[in-house]
Amino acid sequence: MKLRTSPPTLAFEPGRLTLLDQTRLPSEVVTVDCHTVQETWDAIRRLVVRGAPAIGIAAAYGVCLARRSDQTQRAAYVGAIDYLATSRPTAVNLFWALDRMRRVVESIPGNLDLATALQAEAVAIHAEDRQLCHDIGRHGARLLTGARRVLTHCNAGGLATSGWGTALAPIYHLHQLGQPIEVFADETRPLWQGARLTAWELAAAGVPVTVLTDSMAGSLLRTGTIDAVIVGADRIAANGDTANKIGTYPLAVLAHYHQVPFYVAAPSNTFDPQLASGNLIPIEQRDPQEVSQPHGITIVPERASVMNPAFDVTPAELIRAIITERGVIAAPSTQAIASLLSPGMSR
Ligand code: MRU
Repeated sequence: MKLRTSPPTLAFEPGRLTLLDQTRLPSEVVTVDCHTVQETWDAIRRLVVRGAPAIGIAAAYGVCLARRSDQTQRAAYVGAIDYLATSRPTAVNLFWALDRMRRVVESIPGNLDLATALQAEAVAIHAEDRQLCHDIGRHGARLLTGARRVLTHCNAGGLATSGWGTALAPIYHLHQLGQPIEVFADETRPLWQGARLTAWELAAAGVPVTVLTDSMAGSLLRTGTIDAVIVGADRIAANGDTANKIGTYPLAVLAHYHQVPFYVAAPSNTFDPQLASGNLIPIEQRDPQEVSQPHGITIVPERASVMNPAFDVTPAELIRAIITERGVIAAPSTQAIASLLSPGMSR
């Protein structure tokens, strides 16, 4: 199987972060170069780069682009970390990656070493993510063995990570092993990550994919067309409640009602053990124009209000299992999650 590799989601060389522009897919395959912290912040905010793991990697590289102005280089790095943390609020991978960069700043004395150490840390975050995706694919494939038709929401594939993705990793894994598997991709209103991105990368890899509007998922589940639902995550609370792209929660309710297994796939750095439940996860509110003016065409009358929360929270009780790089957490609970996340533990 060929994974889409060119151009990659992210690439870095000193002074330049190159991002595949995901706002332009699938009609144009173009990249955007970021040379400054501000340009990186804008790219994350505008979803040029998106998906929880990819945001964290981009932000880590963004820190390396900080240049001293009237402050010391060390202060410039700290300022960059603080600033990049304001780009998007929900995906905890962003804060996890920036915390790693902050720890490097705090632990290395001397400016020259600091630049080298920060770049090494960003490269490590990037490389580790590739391995996490691979391991999620391996563990998730056990759950999806025998599944022929799998439904997903948003894009939790290679475009959202540096490897196989999270939710799509088990699918790529099984496809590579020759298991016949096809994907039904919710279009994912309002920004169509499913239609534009998931369908694009699966088709490029030769995995059969069918796009549906979000409202069609219920009928497919009712008629028994779907064997399993698998999605990614932006933040998982200590009890397993999971924030993911808006529209994930109703899908989980439907899957539960129709007794179709609903899986979440995410690396351990997507867990936020500080938050006891999903009620505490900050939900990004985006520009209402993304809903009211898709492609610049007004589809909502001027006097109507429009809402645009980018994520929703699925309660743990609706999740059959969470697939991580360390193993599978069946029937997620605070205790099961704590035990999987504790150092040295895996199953
Ligand atoms: O707003 P986006 O496109 O960044 O939202 C992305 C998602 O919700 C993904 O499902 C999630 O980040 C998991 S990506 C492996």
